[in-house]
Amino acid sequence: MTAAISISNLKKSFGTLEALKGIDLTINKGEFFGLLGPNGAGKSTLINIIAGLTRADSGEVTVLGHNVVVDYRCARAALGVVPQELVFDAFFSVREVLQMQSGYFGLGKENDAWIDELLDALKLDDKADTNMRALSGGMKRRVLIAQALVHKPEVVILDEPTAGVDVELRKLLWGFVKQLNRQGHTIVLTTHYLEEAEDLCDRIAILNHGEVIALDSKESLLQSEICSTLHLTIKTATEVSNLSQLLPPPFMAKVKQIEGCSVRFELHKEQDSIGELLAAIGASGIEVVDLETKRADLEDVFVELTRRNSAS
Ligand SMILES: Nc1ncnc2c1ncn2[C@@H]1O[C@H](COP(=O)(O)OP(=O)(O)OP(=O)(O)O)[C@@H](O)[C@H]1O
Ligand SMILES: [Mg+2]
Repeated sequence: MTAAISISNLKKSFGTLEALKGIDLTINKGEFFGLLGPNGAGKSTLINIIAGLTRADSGEVTVLGHNVVVDYRCARAALGVVPQELVFDAFFSVREVLQMQSGYFGLGKENDAWIDELLDALKLDDKADTNMRALSGGMKRRVLIAQALVHKPEVVILDEPTAGVDVELRKLLWGFVKQLNRQGHTIVLTTHYLEEAEDLCDRIAILNHGEVIALDSKESLLQSEICSTLHLTIKTATEVSNLSQLLPPPFMAKVKQIEGCSVRFELHKEQDSIGELLAAIGASGIEVVDLETKRADLEDVFVELTRRNSAS
């Protein structure tokens, strides 16, 4: 089956900075795919290359089998990109912007019904005739989203669509994007809100310094690495400062953070047992006044993997 997006050995430098160091990635049709990574990891550079806005130094990208350089028109028609930066033409109304965008893809009046649907779905209907200049930041972002979808692209890439967006719009947007995905559209999402990625994505790639450092299903990522954290509130500050004398070294090694009387332990899958840790704490005589365990979430996994990669 043709991939939605296929990327092979993609490299891009800006001067001496290697923004992408040979990316290999295949995104399948129908996936809800998360592209995560810290600031400057290379996510937008990768997206701009897929969208044909930036030229790679080497390597190849195809969208639904169309090479983004030699078969630009077909690749572009298959793709809808919501850019990270708010760029728009200040002189036109919302509807005019969408109609012009339709025109770029050879669509005319017959697309007006879909434009109305988009305006309605993104709660822009009462702003349809408002000049772009007069919209708030969040509303402009909605227009960018509508613009990306105006030609009903099979593959939709959203580069931080919820940055600076209020809670209501986020819910609205995710409802809408989920529906698109259910209808068969492939969705690629970058976001720094990792709970959104955890909630929405089937498969996730983590980029760091221009390299893919993790690529797996969400479930596998969550099961690997850190398994859970144990948060203890200890009765006295003296006990906390004597912790390393009270607790055997293998358990001390699990301590990741101490703040006041609160101590956080990180436990890894398979080799660590929460029961053994609690038994050791009990045997040490440390008085615990509160205890909380938490299963690792995507944020914990992300922080751990990028930390390890940056340290290596
Ligand atoms: N046009 C450019 N000229 C020079 N350097 C650039 C250019 N575009 C990006 N870079 C650099 O390339 C690296 C990757 O940037 P990119 O915008 O792809 O990161 P990102 O993962 O999208 O980050 P963020 O989460 O902040 O959006 C950064 O070091 C950035 O400074
Ligand atoms: Mg970016």
